[in-house]
Amino acid sequence: SYNICSFFLSSSSPHPDRIQLPRNMIENTTNGKRFPWAKNRLPSNVVPLHYDLILQPNLTTTEFAGSVQITVNVIQVTWNIILHSSGLNITKATLTSAGWNQAKPVEVLEYPVHDQIAVVAPDALLVGQNYTLSIDYSSNLSDTYYGFYKVSYKDEHAEKRWLAATQFEPLAARSAFPCFDEPAFKATFLIKIKRDEQHSTLSNMPKNVTIPVAAGIVQDEFSMSLKMSTYLVAFIVANLKNISKETNRTLVSIYAMPQKLGQVEHALDTAVKLLEFYQKYFHIEYPLQKLDLVAIPDFQAGAMENWGLITFRETTLLYDDKTSSAMDKKLVTAVIAHELAHQWFGNLVTMEWWNDLWLNEGFATFMEYIAMERTFPELQTDEEFLKLRFKTMMKDSLNASRPISSAVQSSEQIEEMFDTVASLLLMLKKYIKHDSFQAGIENYLHNHSYGSTRSDDLWDSMNEVTILDILSLGFCMIECLCVLQITNGTLDVKKLMKTWILQKGFPLVTVKRKGKSLYVQQERFLRSVESENWTSDASYLWHIPLSYTTSNCSSFLCPYAYLLDQKSATIELQEEVKWVKFNVDMNGYYIVHYAEDDWNTLINLLRTDPIALSTKDRAHLINNIFSLVGIGKVSLLKAFHLLDYLENENHTAPISQALFQLNLIYDLVEKRGMQNLAARVLLGSKIDQQTWTDNGTLSEREFRSTVLAFACSHHLGNCGTTATELFKEWKASNGTKSLPTDVMKTVFTAGAKTDDGWEFLLSMYTSSVSEAEKHKMLEALASTEDVRKLIWLMQTSLEGDLIRAQELSHIIATVSQSLPGHLLAWDFVKENWEKLIRKFHLGSFAIQNIVTVSTFQFSTEAHLLEVKTFFESKSEKISQLRCVKEAIETIQLNIKWMERNLAALQQWL
Ligand code: BES
Ligand code: ZN
Repeated sequence: SYNICSFFLSSSSPHPDRIQLPRNMIENTTNGKRFPWAKNRLPSNVVPLHYDLILQPNLTTTEFAGSVQITVNVIQVTWNIILHSSGLNITKATLTSAGWNQAKPVEVLEYPVHDQIAVVAPDALLVGQNYTLSIDYSSNLSDTYYGFYKVSYKDEHAEKRWLAATQFEPLAARSAFPCFDEPAFKATFLIKIKRDEQHSTLSNMPKNVTIPVAAGIVQDEFSMSLKMSTYLVAFIVANLKNISKETNRTLVSIYAMPQKLGQVEHALDTAVKLLEFYQKYFHIEYPLQKLDLVAIPDFQAGAMENWGLITFRETTLLYDDKTSSAMDKKLVTAVIAHELAHQWFGNLVTMEWWNDLWLNEGFATFMEYIAMERTFPELQTDEEFLKLRFKTMMKDSLNASRPISSAVQSSEQIEEMFDTVASLLLMLKKYIKHDSFQAGIENYLHNHSYGSTRSDDLWDSMNEVTILDILSLGFCMIECLCVLQITNGTLDVKKLMKTWILQKGFPLVTVKRKGKSLYVQQERFLRSVESENWTSDASYLWHIPLSYTTSNCSSFLCPYAYLLDQKSATIELQEEVKWVKFNVDMNGYYIVHYAEDDWNTLINLLRTDPIALSTKDRAHLINNIFSLVGIGKVSLLKAFHLLDYLENENHTAPISQALFQLNLIYDLVEKRGMQNLAARVLLGSKIDQQTWTDNGTLSEREFRSTVLAFACSHHLGNCGTTATELFKEWKASNGTKSLPTDVMKTVFTAGAKTDDGWEFLLSMYTSSVSEAEKHKMLEALASTEDVRKLIWLMQTSLEGDLIRAQELSHIIATVSQSLPGHLLAWDFVKENWEKLIRKFHLGSFAIQNIVTVSTFQFSTEAHLLEVKTFFESKSEKISQLRCVKEAIETIQLNIKWMERNLAALQQWL
C-alpha cells in the first residue's frame, strides 16, 4: 500500500507584507545584486492571470527549451515582479503592456535560496494594469521523479526508449517554467509542446491542432485550461497507446505502454463509473471534455491527480486477469477513486496554502471509500477503511505525532496526517448523518469553485447545512437530540472538529459499568516511553461522539449515541444488560478500555456467540485489546486469551487483524531467537481446508490469501508442501501454467527458497509484462534468506536498470522482515543514504518508507543508539524529520514492550 506524505513548506504567513524592505534586509542574488524580496511566500502585489507556455524537450540529449508568456495584473504599484524559478537557465526576458508600443527588455535577478526570481521593470507598474512578461529559458530533464523528468523503458521490441513526464506537486512546477508557484495563484494555461514526429504528447486539456515547425518536428497545441493551480499542470511526451469511452460529454482514456494495452480495461470501466458517481454525488459536472489516466513505467508515488491528466504507477492502474489478485483489483479501484475525487476536491476547490494539504488528501481518501462503497459494494472496501483506521491510530499514538493542522515548517518537513483526517470525516459523517454531510460538501464545492479555501471554510459550509437541516425539519427526532451537539440552536461541526484537528493524538475512553450506569471518562491515548505511572496531560479534551451497542440492542434506537464533551460523564441505560460494546464498527477515532469484568464478558461472548458482534466489531476488539497491551493497561495473556476464539472465526477482517498483531510480535521476538510463537495460533484446520484457487467471493479469496501467506511464512500445516509443489509445476511448464492469483505470491515465495527457483523467478521477472505479477515475484525474490542475493536486489534497484528504482522501498521493506535481512537493510540504507536522498528527495514517500521499514524491527538499546547517532550525524534537518522521530520512538517502544512482555510470552509458549 502507499503512504501519503506531504512536504512542508516555509513561512506560514498567509499575507506577506507588501511594504518595501529596508535596504539592509535585502538579500543577495547570484550576480551579487540585491534581491528585492526577503520572504519565502510571494508578495501579492502582482497576480498571474494567464500563461502561454511553449516547451521543446529533447529526449535524446535530455535537455529542454522553454518559453513562457505570463499575463499579470498589478494589485499594488511596484517596480518588481517576484515569481518562482528553480534551476532554469534564463536567456531572455521582456515586458509589454497595452500602453507600450513595444516589448522592453528587463533585468532578472535570481535568488536560489527561495527559488525566486525578480523581474525589474523599466517603469513603475500601475495598479489595475495588465502586463505580459516573456521569458525564454532552458534546463535539463530531471533524473529524479520530480519536476519535468525522464524515464527509460523497454518498448515492445525490447528496445530502450525514453519518456518525459511531470510531477509538480508540491513545489516543482517552478523547475519546468517560471511561475507563481503557490496553490492560491490560480490562472489559465495554454500549453504548446514541440516534439519529434514519432512521439505523441498529452496535457491537462485536449489537443487542438498539430502544426509542423521544422524538419521532423511538430508542435501540439492544447486548448486553454480552466483557472487552476500550478501544481496541477502536467504534460507527457511518449509513445503510449490508449482505449477510450465517452460519458456525459467527457472522453475518458486509459494510456499505457503498447504491450500493456490488454491490461487497461478494468481501469476504463472503473474510471467511467466513478466519474459518473462523483458528478451525481457532488451535483457538479466534471468540467473538462476529456480525462486521461496514464500508467507511467517508472513513477515514485502511487498516483497524482493532475487536472484532466492523472498519472499512476503501473501497479495502481493496470489490471491483468491472469496475474492480478483480488487485492490488486481493490487497490486499482481505490487509487482511481482517490484521484478522481481530487478532480473536485483539490482541483476545483484548492487549499489556499500547503499547511492545509491534509484537507485535500484527507478528503480524497475519505471519498475514495464512499465512492467505492456506493459504486462497487462487492469489493467490501469498508473493511479496507477499517484497516486504514487501525494503521493511522498506531502512528497517531506516538509522541512524535503532530496536530493535523499545524504551523508550516521547512520544505522537507513531512506531514503525514492525511489518513487520520479520512477517519475523522467518517466519524463526522456518522454523527451528522450522511445526507447532511453530503449537502455540506456540495455546499462547500459550490461556494468555492475555482477558488481557494482553508479548513474553516469546510466546517462553515457544513454548519450552514446542518443549521438549515434543523430549521427545515422543524426540530428533529429524539435521536438527534442526543446525538447532535446543539449550541444556541445550531449544530456546531466546527467546534467539534476543532477538538480533533488542533490537538495531537486521540482519546482513550475508559468505561466502568455498575448496574444500569455507565461511567465514561476520557484521556489522551499515548504509547509512551515514560515510566508506568506517567499520566497524560490533563488539558486534552475531545468532543467525542460515542456510540455503543448492548446485549439488549433493539434495532430502532441501536446503536446508541452519546456526545462526550467533558472529561467524564455517566450514561444511564434503560435496563440492565449482559454486555456493552463501545465504538460500534470502530466508526469513531478513539480506543476503549473496560473494567476487568466487562473485558471478560466480551471475551466470553466472542467464544460463545461471536456473531452477536459485527465482523468490524470483532476486528476492532482484537485491535483495541492489543493497543491496550501496548500501553500496559491489559496483559498480553488476556489479549491472547481473546484470540482463542479465532478457531471459529471465518471472516477476513478479524482474522487479518489477529494475524497482523501476531506478526508484529513475531517479527520482534524472531530477532531474539524465539521462533515458535506462530505455532500456538489457533488457526485449527483452517489452513489445510483452504483450496489453492481463485474461487469464491472476494472476501473468501482474501481470507484464503491472508491465511495461507501467514501459514507458509510460519511453516504451519501443509502450506509449504503445497506451495512448493505448485511452484515446481509452474517452473516445469516454463511459467506457462497459470497460478491462482491470490496465492501466487505465496507460491513464488516458497519457490524462491532454492537457488534454482530463485534464478528462474528472476528470469521470469525480467521478461514479464504484468506489473502485478512482477510485484509478487519481487516480493518473493526479496524474501530469500540468502544474504548475497538480498544485497544484489537492493543494489540493482538503486541502480534502476534491471529493477526499477521505484521498487526500492518495497524491496527494503521485505528484506527488513527476515532475520538475516533486517541488519542488511539498515546497513544498506546507511551506506547509500546520500544516493537515496538524491534520487528520491528528502520528504518523499519513498524516503519516509525507507526510514520506517529499515528500523522498526529493532528492540535493543544498542540499535537505538546506532539509529539515533546515524541520523543526528547527518543534519539537524534530517534528525527533525517526522519519520526519523517516529523511527526512534518506535525502537524505544519496542524495547519497552520486550521488557514488559517477554517473560509472559515465554510462559505462554
Ligand atoms: N496528490 C497526492 C500525491 C502527493 C501528495 C504528491 C503530496 C505530493 C505531495 C495523490 O493524490 C495521492 O494521494 N497519492 C497517493 C496514492 C493515493 C491513492 C493514496 C500516493 O502517491 O501514495
Ligand atoms: Zn491524494
